[in-house]
Amino acid sequence: MRQKSPEKPKTRIAADRTDIQKPRAFLNCRGTAGNDHLLKAELSLTELWNISIKFLWNDEFVSSLDRSLRAHGVKTVLDAAGGTGFPCLELGKLGWNVSYSDASEAMFGSFKNRIAESGVQIPCYLSNWLELTKRIPKKFDAVLCRGNSLIYVDSWDGGKPAVGTKDRIRKALAEFYGILNPGGLLYVDIINESEFDRANYPIIEDMGEKTIDGKRMKLTWEVVHDYEKKVRTVTSHLSIDGSWHEYVYSSYLLRHNELVDMLKEAGFRRVEKTEIEGENSYSVFITYK
Ligand SMILES: C[S@@+](CC[C@H](N)C(=O)[O-])C[C@H]1O[C@@H](n2cnc3c(N)ncnc32)[C@H](O)[C@@H]1O
Repeated sequence: MRQKSPEKPKTRIAADRTDIQKPRAFLNCRGTAGNDHLLKAELSLTELWNISIKFLWNDEFVSSLDRSLRAHGVKTVLDAAGGTGFPCLELGKLGWNVSYSDASEAMFGSFKNRIAESGVQIPCYLSNWLELTKRIPKKFDAVLCRGNSLIYVDSWDGGKPAVGTKDRIRKALAEFYGILNPGGLLYVDIINESEFDRANYPIIEDMGEKTIDGKRMKLTWEVVHDYEKKVRTVTSHLSIDGSWHEYVYSSYLLRHNELVDMLKEAGFRRVEKTEIEGENSYSVFITYK
């Protein structure tokens, strides 16, 4: 059954932030309690991301991705930022010849649990992007690096950008290129252009409320750009049945023109900005080997 599309996040600037309730539980990006007198709640980044996915995307996105891959004549797919399995598992359920890879043991572990429950067979690799062509003995018609993953190269579990991030991105793009069949495509998404060069930060994105696994959840993001350091910081405020969790994570602040230049440097011959229905959070680029 088709689900209703998640609404576009309501974006506001900081001036009227008094309606955001202060989190009662604080968890920093390394998962340690940061404020002992407040309610202590264990929530890993993997769990937070698993919940966030349900606020960000649904079946409409998967159907649109499915159509786009078919329209491009794709037969084999590598989800190179497989995470907890979205949308790799959904594509597998639709009958796609899809493989999974990710560098994070925690994300990989969560994916393995989900796949075991689903009964779908998907080849999976615990692999860093920088070693894809060494670790995976196959080539693919399409590589996915989605969910705003690229800017978290080697830093998803670390909470702040890795040293030499731009160089790592270059190497990752070269590996994506290397693992594609001739004529194959890379699907990569990053933050929307509209997030840049605002007069005021933070941007508050209200993702709304939902009942997930019988629990009432509410999610809000607070986004800040540091143009000098080229760092984007997101503070995720998640309420689960009234108890608040706060999670802070940073990434490289990658502009669209920088990404396009790096894709061309890696050898990709054409870069297209593409609309995928149900993708309301990030800008999608499709580029060809
Ligand atoms: C924001 S999550 C997105 C996951 C998934 N694509 C989704 O949309 O739900 C980013 C993912 O990129 C992975 N990642 C970051 N750097 C990586 C690297 N160097 N090699 C492989 N995976 C990496 C992280 O481990 C994480 O699972």
